[in-house]
Amino acid sequence: MCGIFGYVNYLVEKTRGDISDTLIEGLQRLEYRGYDSAGIAIDGDKADETLIFKQIGKVGALKKEVESQNLDRTATFVNHAGIAHTRWATHGEPKTVNCHPHRSDINNEFVIVHNGIITNYRELKTLLKQKGYTFESDTDTECIAKLFKHIYDTNIKNGNEPDFNELMKQVLYEIDGSYGLLVKSSHYPNEVVATRKGSPLLVGVKTEKKLKVDFVDVEFPDELPNNEAPINGNTHQNGGLLPVAQGDSGLRHSQSRAFLSEDGIPQPAEFFLSSDPASVIQHTKKVLFLEDDDIAHIYDGELHIHRATREAGISATRSIQTLEMELAQIMKGPFSHFMQKEIYEQPESTFNTMRGRIDFDNHIVKLGGLQKWLTTIRRCRRIIMIACGTSYHSCLATRSIFEELTEIPVSVELASDFLDRRSPVFRDDTCIFVSQSGETADSMLALQYCLERDALTVGVVNSVGSSISRATHCGVHINAGPEIGVASTKAYTSQYIALVMIALSLSDDRVSKINRRHEIIDGLKQIPEQIKTVLTLESKIKDLCTSELAQQKSLLLLGRGYQFASALEGALKIKEISYMHSEGVLAGELKHGVLALVDDQLPIIAFATRDSLFPKVMSSIEQVTARSGRPIIIHNTDDKSINTDKALATLEVPLSVDCLQGLLNVIPLQLISYWLAVNRGIDVDFPRNLAKSVTVE
Ligand code: UD1
Ligand code: BG6
Repeated sequence: MCGIFGYVNYLVEKTRGDISDTLIEGLQRLEYRGYDSAGIAIDGDKADETLIFKQIGKVGALKKEVESQNLDRTATFVNHAGIAHTRWATHGEPKTVNCHPHRSDINNEFVIVHNGIITNYRELKTLLKQKGYTFESDTDTECIAKLFKHIYDTNIKNGNEPDFNELMKQVLYEIDGSYGLLVKSSHYPNEVVATRKGSPLLVGVKTEKKLKVDFVDVEFPDELPNNEAPINGNTHQNGGLLPVAQGDSGLRHSQSRAFLSEDGIPQPAEFFLSSDPASVIQHTKKVLFLEDDDIAHIYDGELHIHRATREAGISATRSIQTLEMELAQIMKGPFSHFMQKEIYEQPESTFNTMRGRIDFDNHIVKLGGLQKWLTTIRRCRRIIMIACGTSYHSCLATRSIFEELTEIPVSVELASDFLDRRSPVFRDDTCIFVSQSGETADSMLALQYCLERDALTVGVVNSVGSSISRATHCGVHINAGPEIGVASTKAYTSQYIALVMIALSLSDDRVSKINRRHEIIDGLKQIPEQIKTVLTLESKIKDLCTSELAQQKSLLLLGRGYQFASALEGALKIKEISYMHSEGVLAGELKHGVLALVDDQLPIIAFATRDSLFPKVMSSIEQVTARSGRPIIIHNTDDKSINTDKALATLEVPLSVDCLQGLLNVIPLQLISYWLAVNRGIDVDFPRNLAKSVTVE
């Protein structure tokens, strides 16, 4: 939901202006994740001084706030650590005191930024208040900052000066919940500690010289003679918050091999910490994804990864990967909005989903990530597709072809409802998780639930390295490229294709399905070009949105069979971007209630493309026109059976195979929602109250 960003420079001279610009630009690239307020923490002019700047609204407002402070932007820092945050309110309304960074005390001894939720914050807050701490905000996060100070002071009182990462371990012992966390402290100048649990976090690394090795060793606690964890204070056990840390405190006996220089002289280095690769890529392509419970400690130009305990199955290294994503991919290019750009990328993104996976000449589909698992999936007793929002609609759109090709029962579930019902799941079930971000909390929780029940889990995910992609047994990356617009467009069409490809792979041993499979594979080949044709409708759609649809308050979408998902997805797009009420209706249900709404005013969009249900859809359209309704009809090119006289408008789309037609039919709706919103002066990429990645329940 929120975004976190950190920047550490070591032996690299930067002005205060450079540093705050880097932090603010980093936040700007994270804005799409959530954006009701933002803040940064940087060093002041005096030793031990940390400055915090916060502002509600967009990151641009924070930039102005920092500029208005009359800071000396030319002051230089050879070593420095700064942290930053964009917030989407969960605990406490969007107001300045609730913005991050949060601090331990009025001297800003410890400042932190946090994504996620601390579930035991009330207990911690009560305890810390009893110990004399005064809270400034309504957030769950602030208790972590206070906890840092409390535990640090307690250590010092006991004659122990803990290493920063050691202190982090002690704090983590006390908190429950999910987090991506960055901490900066005047007690540990120019250092940052970072950790994650259920919330993404990565570290970008930039050095002049090539790294010695492309991995970082994980440092486990010293194996103490009594083999005990170094911390024994725990609120849950003794309610006392009394850490007695000994262990290897204060001793920096390790060196990170990746950062070792030939001559032992420290190397200049810069580190970029972020919840999202999109904000790091402009600085470096070398990144390390943290695992849950990893503690990253950055100091003296080195990155160290620590863990509080040595658990079985945990890898002893973390690799430094090279991100393939190009900066150009995350820029808007010639388009006014990311959403528009992403709508126009669909000929390419759908092609990329299929690239290297479909041999069109020989009608073979090969998904590298699923090959080993196909036999197990074919044997499962049912398939459950689980997702949220648009991703859920891509499941609905493909359910029928899944059932037809695989002959395995398929159910489609909204992740939150699936969990609310504690739906029964068994070890012979296959659960498919569809998610653009791979970080959606509801989907992630449903995934944990299915893993606990030993079901086979399959991911269909856009973000490589995301939590869902990593936690599933196997899966398919949809390869649509970064999607930044909050309204999902290209991810939908790519998810749709990926799911169809999975159904095709699962049925490639069925002789009875050969003709159908060939028909679909031939259909898929044409999709990218056909999407290009649909995109030429934009000017007609733009006119429709500035004329007939401009002043409307409500809109219905009618679809049936494969097109019911198109109706639901179209309605969702219109709602989230233009704030206009819209509803997707199953055409067969029209006469059971919705018909009461029909008059000559209410705009109705009907999907009347050719498939076996076409006659039934036509009869629904007649029911509408018989009541003076004037539908906008989406139909196939040159279909002479459509009575255009009674229609408000018609939009022609090329003909595809029935189960793929939705890929083309949804695009006019993406464009309608876009132009309705633009005409209403809405910031399309940042619709109110919504976030791209919803990492809270
Ligand atoms: C992979 C490479 C691709 C390369 C291709 C060449 C990655 C990410 N992909 O693509 O760059 O061009 O081989 O053969 O390195 N997975 C999950 N859950 C998910 C998604 C994926 O577990 O939600 C797993 C898959 O099972 C697989 C791996 O991640 O083991 C990569 O999946 P995917 O990118 O779809 O595989 P390929 O298309 O083979
Ligand atoms: C949010 C987004 O609600 O999450 C939607 O605004 C998206 O566009 C939904 O469909 C699910 O996200 P994801 O990343 O799991 O596909």
